[in-house]
Amino acid sequence: MLNWDDPLAGASPSNNRQAASEPVPDHLGEAPALELWESSTSSPSHQRPHATESHVRPGQGIVGNEALMATAGHAPVVDPDPFAASDTAQEALPFEDTLAPTPPRQPKATMPAGEHDAATAASGGGATGLESLELGAGRIQVDDKKIINCRADLNQLVPFKYDWAWQKYLDACANHWMPQEINMNADIALWKDPEGLTEDERTIIKRNLGFFSTADSLVANNLVLAVYRHITNPECRQYLLRQAFEEALHTHAYQYVVESLGLDEGEIFNMYREVPSIARKAEWALPYTQFLADPHFATGTPETDQKLLRELVAFYVIFEGIFFYVGFVQVLSMGRRNKMTGTAEQFQYILRDESMHMNFGIDVINQIKIENPHLWTPAFKQELIDMIREAVALESQYAHETMPRGVLGLNAPMFEEYLQFIANRRCAQIGLPEQYPGVGNPFPWMSEVLDLKKEKNFFETRVTEYQTGGALKWD
Ligand SMILES: [Fe+2]
Ligand SMILES: [Fe+2]
Repeated sequence: MLNWDDPLAGASPSNNRQAASEPVPDHLGEAPALELWESSTSSPSHQRPHATESHVRPGQGIVGNEALMATAGHAPVVDPDPFAASDTAQEALPFEDTLAPTPPRQPKATMPAGEHDAATAASGGGATGLESLELGAGRIQVDDKKIINCRADLNQLVPFKYDWAWQKYLDACANHWMPQEINMNADIALWKDPEGLTEDERTIIKRNLGFFSTADSLVANNLVLAVYRHITNPECRQYLLRQAFEEALHTHAYQYVVESLGLDEGEIFNMYREVPSIARKAEWALPYTQFLADPHFATGTPETDQKLLRELVAFYVIFEGIFFYVGFVQVLSMGRRNKMTGTAEQFQYILRDESMHMNFGIDVINQIKIENPHLWTPAFKQELIDMIREAVALESQYAHETMPRGVLGLNAPMFEEYLQFIANRRCAQIGLPEQYPGVGNPFPWMSEVLDLKKEKNFFETRVTEYQTGGALKWD
């Protein structure tokens, strides 16, 4: 029941059809996680007092998955498709007619008309946090807060409205790590040994470093320059800031591996402009973020709000939720075979971070749907489905081009099935119909990889317990 992602939703190669025909739970899980899933079904997420469960606190080092999974990716008030029952009725209406009839609530701290400063005017649909102070304005109430197009003061973190966002921030801090903490000596020796790895194995390492080293920078730039301005909620922004730092750590990790192995950094960092299967993924994603990063773009109309939602799906659900997974499986498979264990451990930490990023994005998408049901039209849903199907095809192509021959017990057709499997899961998480009925999960071990404690002896490297400032000794 990891809701770190995970693709592995309780499926094993032997129960594929059952997994596909049954409703997908919010949590996934396979064997070890099953117990947790069962316990959570007896206590529906929306009834769980997750905000008061205090087993995850920053400063306590890496915590167990069970504790992290208790809240990650699991916004208690979010129904992935709260309007499914009225879809038929909505489909009969033209777009404008589906607009919510309820007038937007006026926040108590709204700035007086005519006094918006330049920053506010530029933001269009919502506040930025850089507006001039309104002395003596009414205090912020929870109901004033909205994920997008909120006009209330964004500099006040509390009172919390979206506990799930704050909890993810705490979880992410509790999961802190640094690339230099991972021992790369075995990787260096293996890489330098002419007999250490096959050419296919070397290709896998280099291609994935090539893809991820620039992809994580692209994600970070998207967050900071495009997404952040349009998410008008302080607790979500708190998580976005943490995520942005984690993306920097990931780029750092790839640079650290490149430097450790003595690779040609120019070759690796230019692959996204020189290797077609890598370039295509970045090219696919860029138009979505370019829209949002335009300083003249503002949310606040159905069309622009849909642009934001489309972009969140492109980056959180597809880029981080589909485009990363062939690479994760390939590199972690090497670790499972006791090859490039330091690099695999770096990727293992990154996978944990990424699955939380994706789950946060899914919670944000679903919360926007709840607050703006008129955006979720049949035509828009079909557009998202087409995007996801196109992404699966692109990533399958990446799998073919990174491993033209079978290697490590893996082959491209297995990846095609895996991608369809996780695409089904992504669709279900945002309330879209599954697109690939009957597919199974050829890599059930991936959910195990998410549990660092369980994997402690698996990679035969060490798991570092990170000490935060509060735990450091100064004498
Ligand atoms: Fe990342
Ligand atoms: Fe990420």
